[in-house]
Amino acid sequence: VDVFVSQSDPRPLTAQLYEQLRDAVTEGRLKPGDRLAPTRALAADLGVSRSTITEAYGRLVAEGFIEGRSGRGSVVAELEQASAHPPSTPSALEPTARAAAIAGDARTPHSEARFDLRPGRVDPALFPGRDWRRAVVQALARGSPQYGDPAGTAELRGALARWIARSRGVTATENDVIVTSGSGHGIDLVARVLLNPGDLVAVEEPGYPPVAKLLRSQGLTVVGVPVDRDGIIVDAIPRQARLIYVTPSHQFPLGIVLARHRRLELLRWAGRNNAAVVEDDYDSEFRHVARPLEPLQRLDRDGRVIYVGTFSKTVSPALRLGFLVAPPSLIPAICAVRQAIDWCPPTVTQLALAAFIEDGHLDQHLRRSRLVYRERHRRLDRALELLPSGYRRLAVQAGLHLAVTGPDTPDDGQLLAATAEHDMLIGSLRHCYQVTDALPGFLVGFGALPTDQVEAAVQTLCSALLSRSA
Ligand SMILES: Cc1ncc(COP(=O)(O)O)c(C=O)c1O
Repeated sequence: VDVFVSQSDPRPLTAQLYEQLRDAVTEGRLKPGDRLAPTRALAADLGVSRSTITEAYGRLVAEGFIEGRSGRGSVVAELEQASAHPPSTPSALEPTARAAAIAGDARTPHSEARFDLRPGRVDPALFPGRDWRRAVVQALARGSPQYGDPAGTAELRGALARWIARSRGVTATENDVIVTSGSGHGIDLVARVLLNPGDLVAVEEPGYPPVAKLLRSQGLTVVGVPVDRDGIIVDAIPRQARLIYVTPSHQFPLGIVLARHRRLELLRWAGRNNAAVVEDDYDSEFRHVARPLEPLQRLDRDGRVIYVGTFSKTVSPALRLGFLVAPPSLIPAICAVRQAIDWCPPTVTQLALAAFIEDGHLDQHLRRSRLVYRERHRRLDRALELLPSGYRRLAVQAGLHLAVTGPDTPDDGQLLAATAEHDMLIGSLRHCYQVTDALPGFLVGFGALPTDQVEAAVQTLCSALLSRSA
């Protein structure tokens, strides 16, 4: 910790020093075992005599805050628990009502359980650690120590453009691609350049909660538009909507694929009403049945679609890597805003990802992961046939989670508590709704569920569901 002394302070220098170090220890900023600066060095640093420092340290030793260890100088002592708690400092600052509403909405998830069936998890055992480590080490040797291009390195943008053309049929050159820290970041940038506070944005109902929160945090009005078996009901989109956010390949959370006729209808609607469409293609790399439909981005004839992709599912959410493909008219503004926020994506990670893609490791990793997740999905789908009566799993063609509808009241708090009692975490369906009349049910993520535990997990789930109705 930094300490400061002032000649204009009426307290003696020793007292000033003693009080700051004592507070740092009791507030936990200095931890037991931390070394204090040597007396000679600190005296030189502060421009005071060495005896001032030794006197202050002596008092801290006498009161048990620090101890002298031969050869190691002065170190912070183990304190009684009671005295080691940082005091809560009152603050004059408060978040806005808008930010407070979002914070109040955030649930504190249990972080661990025997079975973690929350959506958004991936299998840590599949992470291509060796290849990624090698790519990062090589990138470290090559990365420039300067700020980079706000859009991302040309190398990575080129690799991404080729990869999404090949894997998803998205038509883009490297100049249409912007590297982001995940899909949420991409959507944030797009909304900042396309919308003004108060504008209306349409999202799917039910939909992906983080994006609705993100848009509300920007002062936008977020309206949920219901989905049916073909996806978002285009006729129900409010005419004032300036942007429509959709998950066409695997609707979050219900898993519906946006039908081709709806895709065309949505694009016509956007054309008539001069709106933008954000296509979040977060997990379509993992298809379990059927071929993917043409992305909206490819069907778009007048540059209204912004395609958003992420490596959170394909490689790991911990990488915080994603990208967007935007019409050329938006690229300069997005880059300028991005530069104003955090300048550019991290260079080393970008070089590593570019090499990882170009050397074929991404394709190899996806081939391996697809086999694992497909088999896991097959076993889960079969095991869920045993759900108690009244519960029904919704079929999915892609992704790492599915939805189960149930016979119950829309308040799923009790259900989540019952599964938690059985050492299991599941996803809330209620939480995906803007309005109150939610479909009763819950979400089952299988990304982090080892394949050989699928049946045991479903048995536990069934016990939890039955314990509620008993
Ligand atoms: C609909 C949807 N979009 C995007 C993501 C990934 O977001 P990010 O790239 O910000 O990690 C997820 C993750 O679960 C998701 O469910």
